[in-house]
Amino acid sequence: MFSLKSYFKHSSVTILYGIFAVIIVGLSACQSPQQTAPQAPTNVPSTPSQSQANPPVTTPANLPSASADWKADGSITPGEYQNHQAFDDYEINWSNDDQYVYIGMKAKTMGWVAVGFGATTFMNNANIIQGYFSDGKVTVADQFSTGNFGPHNDVTSLGGTYAILDSGGSQTNGTTIIEFKRKLNPGDKFHPALVKGVNKIIWAYGGDNQYLIKHVSRGEGQITIQ
Ligand code: HEM
Repeated sequence: MFSLKSYFKHSSVTILYGIFAVIIVGLSACQSPQQTAPQAPTNVPSTPSQSQANPPVTTPANLPSASADWKADGSITPGEYQNHQAFDDYEINWSNDDQYVYIGMKAKTMGWVAVGFGATTFMNNANIIQGYFSDGKVTVADQFSTGNFGPHNDVTSLGGTYAILDSGGSQTNGTTIIEFKRKLNPGDKFHPALVKGVNKIIWAYGGDNQYLIKHVSRGEGQITIQ
């Protein structure tokens, strides 16, 4: 028979069991972080692997590796440059670190190959780097254009300082390669700074080693500095 006394007795026991169960669950819940805490060290190695997964070129600290495999030897090898852009029979490859840009130009010609930075109108105000062979010797000229269609004379003749820090080239089987290294910002008016992001370039190549004779192909483009 139902009795109030046995009901309360039964309920108290139930409540007591309930409280006991809550305490047990609570205790085990409190312990669980301590149990997972030792796992924390096993998570630690994941930190380096996450940063390793970051694209290396976005971290300035990693940018100097741009120059690691670079050689101004007249040969453009796979992985030597981080970027590549082709315009008809002319191509430009480039990398940069926080101070320098490394350029490799290649064109289907036995003539001169050039790139210009910072042109305002046509060729005007561009720092033009023109590479050419003469008597089997490569010259990488550092020039500045003082007019829309030249003249572009050596910066030294205009009072500037030659800013090509390393260079080289090759001519084989109808292809000319010119490689050079320049500061991103050589710091004078003949060398417009290359800045982070998109930079306009002009490019051209000539038909033979008469480097004063006009291009057979020319155009505009852009390179991105990291
Ligand atoms: C070697 C001596 C050079 C001479 C005598 C010369 C002369 C000229 C002349 C007369 C023009 C206008 C006619 C045309 O479109 O063909 C021109 C245009 C142009 N040149 Fe040169 N150039 C020389 C070198 C260069 C170099 C080294 C570059 C690039 C690095 C260059 C880039 C250009 C570009 C991009 C244009 C087209 C401008 C436009 O129409 O927007 N030139 N050049």
